[in-house]
Amino acid sequence: MVWATALNDRKANSPAGGGTPLSPETERSLFGEILDWMLAPLLFVWPLSIAFTHYFANNVANFPYDQSLREHVATISRQIQMVDGKPVISLHAATRAMLRADELDSVYFHVLTQDRKLLVGDQDLPVPETTGKGERVPGEIYFRDMEYKGQDIRVAYSFIAEPQAPADQWVLVEVAETTEKRTQLANRIVASVILPQFIIIPLAVMLVWFGLSRGLRPLTRLRNTIEHRDPADLSPIATRRVPEELEPLVEAFNEMLERMKRNVEAQQRFVADAAHQMRTPLTGLKTQAQFAARETNPEALRHALRQIATGVDRAGRLVNQLLTLARTEGSEIGQQQHEPTDLSQLVREVVEDWVIVALDKGIDLGFESPGKAMITGNAFLLRELAKNLIDNAIRYTPSGGHVTCRIIDTGKTVLLEVEDDGIGISLEQAELVFERFYRVDDAAGEGSGLGLAIVQEIANQHDARATLRPNPRGKGAVARVAFATWYPPLPPPAPPEDYAELYRQSPPLGP
Ligand SMILES: Nc1ncnc2c1ncn2[C@@H]1O[C@H](COP(=O)(O)OP(=O)(O)OP(=O)(O)O)[C@@H](O)[C@H]1O
Ligand SMILES: [Mg+2]
Repeated sequence: MVWATALNDRKANSPAGGGTPLSPETERSLFGEILDWMLAPLLFVWPLSIAFTHYFANNVANFPYDQSLREHVATISRQIQMVDGKPVISLHAATRAMLRADELDSVYFHVLTQDRKLLVGDQDLPVPETTGKGERVPGEIYFRDMEYKGQDIRVAYSFIAEPQAPADQWVLVEVAETTEKRTQLANRIVASVILPQFIIIPLAVMLVWFGLSRGLRPLTRLRNTIEHRDPADLSPIATRRVPEELEPLVEAFNEMLERMKRNVEAQQRFVADAAHQMRTPLTGLKTQAQFAARETNPEALRHALRQIATGVDRAGRLVNQLLTLARTEGSEIGQQQHEPTDLSQLVREVVEDWVIVALDKGIDLGFESPGKAMITGNAFLLRELAKNLIDNAIRYTPSGGHVTCRIIDTGKTVLLEVEDDGIGISLEQAELVFERFYRVDDAAGEGSGLGLAIVQEIANQHDARATLRPNPRGKGAVARVAFATWYPPLPPPAPPEDYAELYRQSPPLGP
């Protein structure tokens, strides 16, 4: 059943841009749904109520007319007399007149002896098929419905007997009438019950319709509030006038808005910071280029150009870091690309890439590992993480220092440690350095403060925890990332060996 609904209509007319269009299956109006569930059962109940009314109307209509049939039988019965043990009847003229007095229905009657001898009345009026004695208690009046001369008739009949007479001596009195009066009365009763329903039911439907559209008004109001909102407005929706049932929905929506707001703010901050960070190397580059343009001495010019090249490298690194952060944050490289990885092997390769850099700076770069250390993760991101930690350790360790990369497998966790004996870090600073663009004031060398933010982001994606602490063994710092150890899934249990079958298949033993 499809009900045109006020809510749907308005949706169709609403201006474009009201969100993603819903598929025909999902576009089910609440209004229509409630109407369907309320009114569809009515369609079944109504015919049922008509059938009941009909049945009870017939019963009610039978009652008064049965009463008058009963009186006719009693009147005739009173006029039977026993003369010498034989029944004799002489119907009064008044009784005959009474019997024929009906305008609408034909009345039939007869009086028969037990051997079917007609004493008075219609010969061919059928006789009741009685079998047992219990079915003809003298004086009792019985009723039955049947057909006679092609018409429905209602018959009242009674067996009259002398108190002292033998059991098989009786007289049957039957009075029957066609059912026209009864049908008319029953029809009138049915009509008087059903006809008002033709007014009451449409009225009820209209009232339900009206009530529903009033009841669903808060929903429409809420929709309008959301529809007319400024796209940039992420403030929570007021729950003041929202009905109780909708409150959880609005609250969930508000929580989502709050999360979106935080995200948008973080993004705006990040973009602003990134722009600011980019501006510094670009300004430096411009100054150097202007300086080079004015330079006439070829040696000085070459020096200026070399500085420009370094500046470009630095700017390029910053852009790469920003891209890595953006890629790590966005789910471009997401959980779906995580796979079992040997962290030992992966870190060993990264360390190998950094040996030259360490050598250049006069730093001893070492690697310690117990062998395979399996975790689940994304190799690209893990390499990026290791690279940033090793870069920091080398950068913040003066020439002649030591940097050791270490893998420790505790069975439950795999730890990646990068230990150095460099400038070190205080406990307070160690908490702050994971913030984006945060650098310790006296940090040696160039950097943009993104390395540890990237490490943190990648660790989060791997459900791992990254920390930086002062080196407990003395000078320097230790960066540590703790991952959960990966274990291969257990193979399904082997089916039990069928020894009896093996025994049957084996060749018989020789003598
Ligand atoms: N191994 C370390 N020893 C001492 N200080 C460190 C170490 N690692 C990081 N830091 C401090 O933490 C700060 C933040 O480090 P982070 O790697 O995020 O940025 P960065 O190295 O300054 O710049 P970049 O974005 O180029 O890596 C550094 O500026 C430095 O002061
Ligand atoms: Mg760094």
